[in-house]
This record gives sequence, structure tokens and C-alpha cells, in this order.
Amino acid sequence: MTILAIESSCDETSCAISRDGVILSNIIAGQAVHEQYGGVVPELASRAHMQNIVPVVEAALKKAGVTMPELTAIAFTQSPGLIGSLLVGSQFAKSLAMSLGIPLLAVHHMQAHVLANLIQGATGSAELPHFPFLCLTVSGGHTQIVRCDSPLKLQVIGETLDDAAGEAFDKSAKLLGLPYPGGPLIDKYAREGNPQAYTFPEPQIPGLNFSFSGLKTAILYFLQEQRAKDPEFVEKNLPDICASIQGRIISILLNKLKKAARETGIKDFCIAGGVSANSGLRKAFRETGDALGWRTFIPAFEYCTDNAGMIAITGYYKYLAGDFAPLTTSASARAEW
Ligand code: KG4
Ligand code: ZN
Repeated sequence: MTILAIESSCDETSCAISRDGVILSNIIAGQAVHEQYGGVVPELASRAHMQNIVPVVEAALKKAGVTMPELTAIAFTQSPGLIGSLLVGSQFAKSLAMSLGIPLLAVHHMQAHVLANLIQGATGSAELPHFPFLCLTVSGGHTQIVRCDSPLKLQVIGETLDDAAGEAFDKSAKLLGLPYPGGPLIDKYAREGNPQAYTFPEPQIPGLNFSFSGLKTAILYFLQEQRAKDPEFVEKNLPDICASIQGRIISILLNKLKKAARETGIKDFCIAGGVSANSGLRKAFRETGDALGWRTFIPAFEYCTDNAGMIAITGYYKYLAGDFAPLTTSASARAEW
């Protein structure tokens, strides 16, 4: 079964080819155009997807050594995401499926982030997680704890009530005067800093839900106060500030995951989404797992941030289940699980 998968939900145009659930190629084209605006500009993202999609698809086929007539099905990200961006990928996928006369597989982006952990070899472990497992999905738009009973039976058991973890990184970075997306930069500076240098509050949210908006406000007031005393406070202490912010975001995430572990008794844990590329989170997740006897799975970087490999693996399981989409299906900015 050879699947061509397309991901275009935000600012990455990606195409992957899989054969029998194994990823043969996973090409990702980023969009530098947004950097100067401090965030993703939806109109520019759609335009860049239109420019990128044909070369990205051609590169994925070439790298996989696969030709169009060999394809069995086309998978694409249907939701959630920026509607203009989703439309480019979904129209392309539908046209391709129609012209080749093969089935279409509509994929939920957040479900795909979780299933990235089921890509063979993606987590560096010879084994795949056992069901049921819990996945901490942390991206620019979502922060969720997902319970997975099977590839297609997923349930969100905790989520953020306001900002996502990626937003907490990016908004904090903005307050520090760093360019967008700031998450990777906080990660970089934090490596040389002391996470105990400054203390930011941990919100007390009931159950397995998260909140990050209070942290952003606390950082804003902290910086105002420090800058009033020394205008060069940020420049002089950037690594310590970044390490302290990152340390708090990580402890908020892992404390809830530990709670979920106690409540469910589950022992297999995965992380997913763009923020799972964070080196501090990867290390702390691994250490927490080792201390508590969990089996931990962390996808390689290329499968953490937006990529079509995760769309291909989700498409693969949908194909096995006979869960095909009609050609009349449409993209949707928002979608429930
Ligand atoms: O999953 P993703 O690529 O796109 C969405 O679906 O949102 O996640 C993007 C988010 C951004 O907020 C970005 O700053 C964050 O992931 N991110 C990181 C790192 N790499 C990406 N945050 C912290 N540390 C990183 N190394
Ligand atoms: Zn994503």
C-alpha cells in the first residue's frame, strides 16, 4: 500500500510517501516569509503553499523512488489549521486522487501528531508504544494529554484552557525581544542558563487541564520590574531568563503528565508536536520516565514539528480501517476529535 500524504495546515508545506506503513520520504519546506512579521501571516502562508506544493510533491516522489501510477491512496490534513493553507493541500490532494482514480484519506492534524510515535524507527526505539498509551501533544496551537487505545481510538483527557505551550514559548520570546518563532531560540539560550535563577508561578488548575496565560503575565511584570532597575537586564541575563521560563513550562507539562499516570495506571508515554522538539522537555520527559518506570517514546525532530510523515502513518491506519473520504469533503479550520 503506497500512500502519498500532504500536510499544509500552517506554514510548512510537506509531502511524504509511505509503503505499508514505512516512511520512504518526508520532505518539508518552511516559509521564511513570516519572520519579518513576528508570526504567521495567513495570506502569505497560502501563497507560499501554492508555490511550494508541486516541487515538494515531486521531491518526495523522487526521494522515495515512487511514480504516480504506483500510488494506492492520497492522504491530506483536513483540519484543524489556517483555512487558506488547508485549502491548498486539500484541493491538491483531491485533484490528485480524482485524476489517479484512487481513494482519499482525510486526516486530523492533532491525531497525526500523536501517531507520529507509531512511525517505525521514528522514536529511535526498535519497539512501538503499547496500547493504551498516553501522549503529551504540545504545539503552537494545542496542548493536550491524549489517551490512545488504538491507532484510531484517541481521547483528549486534558487540555489547555487558554494559551498553548508553544504560544507560551513564542510569547515569552517576544517579550524578550527575540524573533518569531521564539521557541527554538529559548531552547538554545536555555542550554547555557540556570533554570533556578528566577522563579515563575505554577498555576493551580483542577484535573488534567493546563493554563499558560498567567505565566505570560508573570513574565511581563517580572521583566518590567527588572528593566526599571537595569535597562540591560535581559541582555545581561538572557540564558538564565530563558532557562527559568523553559523550566517552568516543562514542570507545568510534566506535573500534569505524572498526575495522568497516577490516575490511569498507564506506563507507556509519548510526546508529540512542535514543542516536543525542545531539548529540555525531551531530557526531563526521559528522566521522569526513568524515575517512575515508564517506557518513553520521543519522535525524531523531523516528526515532531509539522510534517507529512505523520499524515501518511495516520492515512495508513485509516486505509486499513476502510475510513475513506468522499471527493466532496472539504477542509475545516476547526474540528472536534
Ligand atoms: O506542531 P508545530 O510545528 O505547529 C503547530 O501545529 O502549531 O508547533 C510549532 C510550535 C511553535 O510554537 C514553536 O515555537 C514550537 O513549536 N517549537 C519549540 C521548539 N521547536 C518548535 N518550542 C520550544 N523549543 C523548541 N525547540
Ligand atoms: Zn502541528
